[in-house]
This record gives sequence, C-alpha cells and structure tokens, in this order.
Amino acid sequence: MKLIVGNQKTYLDRDKVLNFIEKTGKVDCSNVVICPSYPYFELFNNKSNFILGSQDVSETGLGASTGEVSAEQLKSFHVQYAIVGHSERRSYQHEDSNVLYHKIKCLLESDIRPIFCIGECLEERESDSTKDVIGKQILEVFDRLEKSEIEKIIIAYEPIWAIGTGITPVNDEIMDTTNYIKDLVNDKFDVSILVLYGGSVNKENISQLGEISAIDGYLIGGASTKADEFLEIMRENSK
Ligand code: PGA
Repeated sequence: MKLIVGNQKTYLDRDKVLNFIEKTGKVDCSNVVICPSYPYFELFNNKSNFILGSQDVSETGLGASTGEVSAEQLKSFHVQYAIVGHSERRSYQHEDSNVLYHKIKCLLESDIRPIFCIGECLEERESDSTKDVIGKQILEVFDRLEKSEIEKIIIAYEPIWAIGTGITPVNDEIMDTTNYIKDLVNDKFDVSILVLYGGSVNKENISQLGEISAIDGYLIGGASTKADEFLEIMRENSK
C-alpha cells in the first residue's frame, strides 16, 4: 500500500473540517497523513485516526519568531511528517534552498519526517530541463546533510504545471523522473529514498497512477479536502 499525504492547504474553514472528519476520520488511516492548517491540529488529534502532518515549519526553533510555528511545537501536537518547500511557498514566500535546509534540520532535530517538495515549471519542462532543475533542488539541500539525515526524508515530486490544473504527466514520464530522483540519491548518498507523486491526483486517475511501481505514494491537494473523493482514493489505494 502506498503512502497518502493530504495537503489541505487553506481550503477549509472549521465547519468544513468538522464535516470532513465526521465522514472520514474513523476509517483505517494507518497509511494516510493529513496536513491541516495549524488551528485544526487538535480536532484531527481528538476526532480522527489520521496520522498528523504539517504543511510547513519555522526555520528557527522555540523563541521570538512572531507568526511562525516551530518544529518543537509541531512535535507537541504529535505531528509525524511536515511538508517542506511546497511550490506555493517557494513562489509566494520566496523560500530558497538555504531556508529549506534549515527547516529540514529543525524537523529532523524534533524527529519529524520532512516531505521535501521538488518540481519543474512548465517552461522548464518544455525546454527539457526537468532533470537539471529537480537535481539542483535536491543537491542544494542534500549536499549539506548527513546520510543518516537524508534517510529520514521523503521526496514529493510535484510538477508545478500539474498542481491544481487537472493535468498530470503520463505514467511513463512520472516513472522516468522518479527513477532519476531515486538513482541520483542512491548514487550520490547511498540512500534508497521514498518518492511521492503530487499534482492533480484525484479519484479518476488514482488507479492509473497506482500502476507506477516506482512511486511510493501521493501528495494530494484539492482532492484531499473532499471527504467522499478522498475516501474513494483511500479505498482504491488499499486494493
Ligand atoms: P493538487 O495539489 O492535488 O490540488 O494538484 C497538490 C499539491 O499542491 O500538493
């Protein structure tokens, strides 16, 4: 069974979260991580079986960082995974590899597994530079880490042009890029890294994506906010 990570972004208000939990929270979620907005951590902890994840983390620890949430604080809510470097944060918050490196260090020190997002934009894909772009995104961070740290990271390959658009690469393309990522990390750091695919995963394409043996799971945005659709994805994934 592949790992499912739901990134609920800022889609849901409190009533919608409660409704989502009511419909989904009691099913078997042993391989399903939900990353809600911070104010809803307690609701998911108290009322659901989902593994708790975070959409982000502060690049500094406990202290004077107004508006941030530190890895220690995440840990105190039993957060087990945290997304780092989502393309929306790279783009809107201008997070670069240096920031992402510090975020990953903070997470590892609190024993939270980073889900490190990488991916190319449409222009980069069309100029055939996908592998160069994602290789650089990986190495700029991994070159500063120990092997024992890299082993705890999960990579989420998310082509930016596939996020929220309803368009996905064909299976062969995802397979090829995933194998490139795995080979790169294996050759350079001697680590067998887990790789998730993200970008417009939904109930229509989940069984087709399930045929890609190289991927270890999915990072799901929009479809993770709709209870019925998410349940269908979970069911399909457990076949
Ligand atoms: P999407 O988002 O599933 O809505 O395309 C994926 C993501 O941003 O992680």
